[in-house]
Amino acid sequence: MKKIFTLMLMVVFMLGFAGLGFADMEKCDKCHKGEKSVDKMVAKAKIVTADDLAKALRQGPRAGMHKSMSDDDINAAATTLKLKRLQ
Ligand code: HEC
Repeated sequence: MKKIFTLMLMVVFMLGFAGLGFADMEKCDKCHKGEKSVDKMVAKAKIVTADDLAKALRQGPRAGMHKSMSDDDINAAATTLKLKRLQ
């Protein structure tokens, strides 16, 4: 009985973390699907750091498409994409 409880707890935790990961990119994924997924766009635009990402989305040719994205959204995406963070 104790084993089953532990197993259930683990499943709940794993689903929780997976859910968090999705939530980070959910806003981007509304527009970025399939061939245009964010990770592919990031690779194509040679974006390596969180700073590059913020610059591309704020000042790049597509800034207009990303006006509604908050700094938090961009930071969350950078974290999910595991981009380097400049301090
Ligand atoms: C309202 C729709 C929309 C949302 C929301 C959106 N994007 Fe975009 N994004 C676009 C479009 C359209 C392009 C241009 C696609 C193309 O060039 O084919 C683009 C381009 C990009 C590029 C390439 C920029 C460049 O300079 O080439 C990156 C990187 C990117 N988006 C990242 C993101 C991230 C990260 C998020 C979430 C924080 C996000 N986008 C949310 C529509 C959106």
